[in-house]
Amino acid sequence: MTATSDIRWGIVGPGYIAGLFADDLARTPGARCVAVASRDAGRAAAFAESHGIARAYGNYAALAADSEVDIVYVATPHSHHFAHAKMMLDARKPVLLEKPFTMNATEGAKLIALAKQRDLFLMDAMWSLCNPLLRNLVARVRAGEIGSPRAFSALLGPIGVPQGHRVDDPALGGSYILECLVYPLNILAALAPALMSGASVSASAVRSPNGVDTSAVIQLASPAGISAMSGGFVIGGQGAGPSGFQLIGDRGWLCVTDNLFNPGRAQISTPVGVEDLTEPASDGRYRWEIEEAGRCLRAGLAESPLVPLDLTLAVLQVLDQAMSDTNGRAAK
Ligand SMILES: NC(=O)c1ccc[n+]([C@@H]2O[C@H](COP(=O)([O-])OP(=O)(O)OC[C@H]3O[C@@H](n4cnc5c(N)ncnc54)[C@H](OP(=O)(O)O)[C@@H]3O)[C@@H](O)[C@H]2O)c1
Repeated sequence: MTATSDIRWGIVGPGYIAGLFADDLARTPGARCVAVASRDAGRAAAFAESHGIARAYGNYAALAADSEVDIVYVATPHSHHFAHAKMMLDARKPVLLEKPFTMNATEGAKLIALAKQRDLFLMDAMWSLCNPLLRNLVARVRAGEIGSPRAFSALLGPIGVPQGHRVDDPALGGSYILECLVYPLNILAALAPALMSGASVSASAVRSPNGVDTSAVIQLASPAGISAMSGGFVIGGQGAGPSGFQLIGDRGWLCVTDNLFNPGRAQISTPVGVEDLTEPASDGRYRWEIEEAGRCLRAGLAESPLVPLDLTLAVLQVLDQAMSDTNGRAAK
């Protein structure tokens, strides 16, 4: 890779999200997918053919050994994020790792330490934090436009998933908290870290017959204020409800009502007045994280300022507490 050449991407785990990511990668200037790896050679070849990718591998280690891959996007189920990201870092590959970064903070801290020890770029694929409207809101809150944040709330509409989907499989890390509440937690950590830092966390969940938390609520109470977030899956259902969040400060407020994951419209109220904010929809929602990872690689950065690793770890620590509250699963 040179300052002007394309960033050459490899994809590990060619499932649902990898397909969307590959489509957006193909639309991102300065980036190119050159290799894909599956546990199965036929699946790798089929994915490579449908996305115009030159090299297809029937195992992940072969992609890790490909000297013409600059960065690897790991898109396997979260139960395997630690092992697959570690495999890539051990092979000296920078990594963009799907959310939730790992199953718990212990695994996350180990990956971060490994990347730091090897001076390798590592980033949570928390694409919402790369969204231009959210970045604008973060900048305005940090500039003090709504004063000190005091309260945050997020409501995610119900999301239908087919019977037998991995999100209801404990062996693959199935969990509404890990799959979906990780988003508002990241948004909270970016917009108002004081509401998360040192907060006491309480959570409750409805569990499926498989023992998976399929609906959940998380509440945080910190010396700076309170936060709450909730939502759930409908197993066997279809479609998804709207989602949004609000942040109230002592001099104003902001709210996103169209789409928490990928906001396109917001309102902000400051002492100057109420303002409507819009961002034109991108033709590729994952494009922003692809551009951000590429920008960081070209600049020689080991982490993204938009999704810094200490933010990722702070979120994992809250997830640990919420998981332990709802499932009795302690962080390993
Ligand atoms: N950013 C987003 O908007 C977004 C959306 C959905 C999901 N995600 C995240 O992306 C990750 C993958 O989700 P997905 O919905 O794409 O899952 P998926 O469709 O099941 O794909 C995951 C892929 O991982 C590979 N894999 C490796 N070990 C596996 C195992 N033991 N069991 C099953 N598959 C295994 C499989 O590919 P091969 O067997 O061919 O290697 C599979 O196709 C999850 O961590 C999820 O949280 C992110």
